[in-house]
Parts: sequence; C-alpha cells; structure tokens
Amino acid sequence: MTDEPTTLQVGDVVTVTIGPVAHGGHCVARHEGRVLFVRHVLTDERVQVRVTEEGPKGRYLRAEVVEIVEPSPFRVNPPCRFAGSCGGCDFQHVTVGEQRRLKAQVVREQLTRLGKVDWSDIDWSGEVEAVPDVDPELAGLRWRTRVRFAVDAAGRAGLVRHRSHEVIAIDDCVIAHSLVDVEEITTTQWPGVQEVSVTVSPDTDERSVQVGPARGRESLQRKAAGRSWQVSSGGFWQVHPQAADALVAAVMDLAQPQDGEHLVDLYGGVGLFAGVWGSRTGGRVDVVEGHRTAASDAEVNLADLPLARVHPMAVERFVVDQAALRPDVVVLDPPRVGAKRAVVAPVAAWRPRAVVYVACDPAALGRDVAYFAEFGYRLVALRAFDLFPMTHHVESVALFVLS
Ligand SMILES: C[S@@+](CC[C@H](N)C(=O)[O-])C[C@H]1O[C@@H](n2cnc3c(N)ncnc32)[C@H](O)[C@@H]1O
Repeated sequence: MTDEPTTLQVGDVVTVTIGPVAHGGHCVARHEGRVLFVRHVLTDERVQVRVTEEGPKGRYLRAEVVEIVEPSPFRVNPPCRFAGSCGGCDFQHVTVGEQRRLKAQVVREQLTRLGKVDWSDIDWSGEVEAVPDVDPELAGLRWRTRVRFAVDAAGRAGLVRHRSHEVIAIDDCVIAHSLVDVEEITTTQWPGVQEVSVTVSPDTDERSVQVGPARGRESLQRKAAGRSWQVSSGGFWQVHPQAADALVAAVMDLAQPQDGEHLVDLYGGVGLFAGVWGSRTGGRVDVVEGHRTAASDAEVNLADLPLARVHPMAVERFVVDQAALRPDVVVLDPPRVGAKRAVVAPVAAWRPRAVVYVACDPAALGRDVAYFAEFGYRLVALRAFDLFPMTHHVESVALFVLS
C-alpha cells in the first residue's frame, strides 16, 4: 500500500527514480505516465519531490527536491550556500567532470532529435572540453567576468530565484570572478535602481559598474589570441576568461584559414574571429554586427587590417542585400535564438567552402543543422566547450561543408 497521490497536482509529494538529463538544467522523471522535470537531481537517484508547476496544456510538470533517498555517486555538497534558492546555477550539486558528461549528453540528444544528425559521419570526440580554470584549486569557480544583479524594492542588489522575479540576498557568488567584488555590490544601497551590472577584465584588472541597463561608452580592454580588444559597455565579450582563446582556436582549427581567403563574420561582436582571420590570412574580412557600439569597437579593433570592413546592421538584412558575395568561409556566432532559416538559406546560397557555427544553445544549433542540410550543407565536425561551469550552458562549434 502507498499513500502517495495517484493523480499528480501542484503541491503533491511523490518518490521517483530520476531518468536522463534534459536540456535546460533539469532531469526527467516519470510518475504514473506523467513527465516531471526536476532540478538539482541526477540520473538514477531515488528522490522525493514536490510538484511546483504544471506546464502548458498539462504536457509536463515541474518539481523540486524534498529529500534525496538514494544519492548518485556524482553528487557533491554544493560549493555555494545559495545553490537551490538562487536561479543562477543548475549543477552545483554535481562533480565538475560529470557536469561535462551531462552537457555532452544534451548536445548529442538535441542534435540527434532536432538536427537528425547521423553521428557515424561526424568528427566529434563526444566530449565537452574543459577550459583552464581561473584558479586550479577552485575547479569550475570564479570565472564569471560579467554579473547582472537585480535590485529589490528596498534598494538591495542580489540574484534572482529560478523562474521568479524574487531577489535573493547574497554576499557572494562563487562563480563570479573575484574582481567583481560581490560583497561590495550587495552591501551598497541602490535606491530607485532596477539592476546593476558589473563587468571586469582580468587581462587588465579593470572593472566597470553600470547602473541600469548597460549604455554609454565606458570600455574595457581585453586580450585574446595575441591581440588587444576594446569592448564598450553593452558590447559582447565571452564571460569566461579563457573562452575567447578557446573559441578562436576551435574556429581556426575547423576552418583552416588559407592565405588571402575572404571571411564573412556574422554576429561578429567587437571583431574577434575576423581580427584573427584577417591577421593570419591577409584576406578580406566582413564583420556584421547589429549593436552600434560593438560595431564601433570592431572598427577600432580591426583598424590595422586594410581589408576589414564592419557593417553595423542586422545580419538578416546583410545576407539579403549582399546575395552576390562569394566568401570562402562564413563564421556565424548568433545569440541564443540561433540563426534560423532566414539567415541559413542565404548563407548557403553564397556557397562558401566552409561554414563554422558557434552556438550557445544546442537546441537552436540542432534546428539550424536541419536547415543547413536542407540547403546543401552537412555537419562534418563538432567541438563543445564547458565555458559556463556549474550552469547547464554549453558552447558548441560546428563545421559545415557542401554536401
Ligand atoms: C554571441 S555574440 C558573438 C560575438 C562575437 N562573435 C564574439 O565571439 O565575441 C552575438 C553578437 O551578435 C549580435 N547580434 C545579435 N543579433 C543580431 C542580429 N540580428 N544582427 C546583427 N547582430 C546581431 C549581438 O549584438 C552580439 O554582439
């Protein structure tokens, strides 16, 4: 006999065995035919959970842990005392090595399901690669060089609870770079302010504090791939201090730049990939970047490259306006939503010898893999990197060539 409920509702507590990890930082469990997404658990654990929310049309339920009945051998005590309440990290309870295996499973599953990928044709180690830790004694910690704090009605800065606007009071964030100085920000009063963003450059020890949504021209200097980069407030730069180097190396390794080759760098930010490409090949580079300040930074950063042009405009418009281009290689590094058909189709119509796609969301990449296949480009090689330890996020770099 069990006194557990038979028709699950929000608030019910049941005991389940946890199934595979799913995209989004949770694992899947099943109970009486219902799918539950449970955070802060691991595959094969036996866990008592409380149902917290019903998904659209009742297709699934969300649940949180009440008690771990049988823990996984990969479970650890979270290094952060706010883990579980703060919505920032998903995997603080998992060994760092197992976090990477979970992310590799998610990449494989998303590309298989959404991209219809046949893995026998693809050069991938199957691993999510580590990048060097900021402090080797603090694996997976102190890497975040940009932190956005929410400010509550009392003017106190903190981080936000998962799927909520509630601001949690904190005095540290163990993934924040030490230059961020979380304690100083969270012990300062910020009356009438909605958010405070801190960006730091460990390359130069600079720190920028932006009150409210990032604007203005304050800029930090970054160093990567043997060059210096100006990055103004609101302009994009990878948050892990090792990320830019790791991604440049992967993109160049996959694209194999040749002397004089023409690169189009879509969603180019402050010109990272174009700058390295141009300085290695001496060829033409076109950077397309929609954020005006970032595009101005790219102009500055590429000033030594006579064949570099920066196009401060939407990628969707550039690829249509410039349908006659014939670049040798295209790099695209879109935001989380991915490139979508409206960009993939015209890029494929340029007929480049290679397309390298840098993706921060494996679901968007999976969808776009299918579009590339439709327009004659097949995925041939993949690398994936753990640029966001303790969170579910993972960065992938994919190489496409003409079928
Ligand atoms: C993930 S970042 C990549 C930046 C750069 N490749 C790097 O590695 O530093 C994406 C960039 O695309 C820009 N962006 C987003 N949507 C865009 C669009 N539709 N058209 C042009 N740029 C866009 C953002 O401003 C941002 O700089």
